[in-house]
Amino acid sequence: MPEPHTTIFHISDIHVGEDGVSLGDLRKAIDRIEKKAKDVSSPLLVVTGDLTTEGLREEYEGFSSVIEGFSIPHVIIPGNHDERNYGSAVFEELFGERFKTYQTERVAVYAADSAEPDNDAGHVGRVKYNEIRDFFNSSKDKYKIFALHHHLVPVPHTGREQNVVEDAGDVLAVLDSTRCSLVLNGHRHVPWIWKLGEMVLCNTGTLLSKRVRGASTQLHSRVEIMEDSVLITLCHKDGTEKVLASTSLRL
Ligand SMILES: [Fe+2]
Ligand SMILES: [Fe+2]
Repeated sequence: MPEPHTTIFHISDIHVGEDGVSLGDLRKAIDRIEKKAKDVSSPLLVVTGDLTTEGLREEYEGFSSVIEGFSIPHVIIPGNHDERNYGSAVFEELFGERFKTYQTERVAVYAADSAEPDNDAGHVGRVKYNEIRDFFNSSKDKYKIFALHHHLVPVPHTGREQNVVEDAGDVLAVLDSTRCSLVLNGHRHVPWIWKLGEMVLCNTGTLLSKRVRGASTQLHSRVEIMEDSVLITLCHKDGTEKVLASTSLRL
């Protein structure tokens, strides 16, 4: 198998503050990723929101105390739980802008805040469409990755659909028109992959929350990007791993 030029460790829905979610378990998960990251080229940690449960400062600071000093590049965006109690103010103080970008020679990542204060539904907003278009259009020779908290397409085994991104159709059209390669999101606590045309949409599960659904367990995803393909592996909390998908990836 070809060597990946980029490896993304994708974690989501940590939910610090939830009963049973410990900072010790979070540290273990981060240490595991950090150890693995030493063996790969161009590692990146992407955190797609729900760092906290109620958006409270003490929850944010708990997450921050584990992630600070993390030695590989990381991109962190908020989820709907982080916006509770106007937690976005604390998010910005600790983790910077809620919309951000990251680039290497091979990948261009646009990470969007799809959450709104005290609203569990997702929304990107047309005011951002041109910015997303411009960013990806200026990255034509790179794998283009869009990260957000909410899902753009409903996920099976998650009950009645209520939280899909409200402007999902328009966001998907923007992404497809710019030849976005890969979408990374969380929120549903269920890992799943969809392929929409040539675009891969990958939902990861929850890193630590007990609110898993059905047969899903706590996990993070390892996303290995090769020339023209991607391998996505689910890394379960108990240390076991399972391939979720191996599929083509457009440039
Ligand atoms: Fe969540
Ligand atoms: Fe969420």
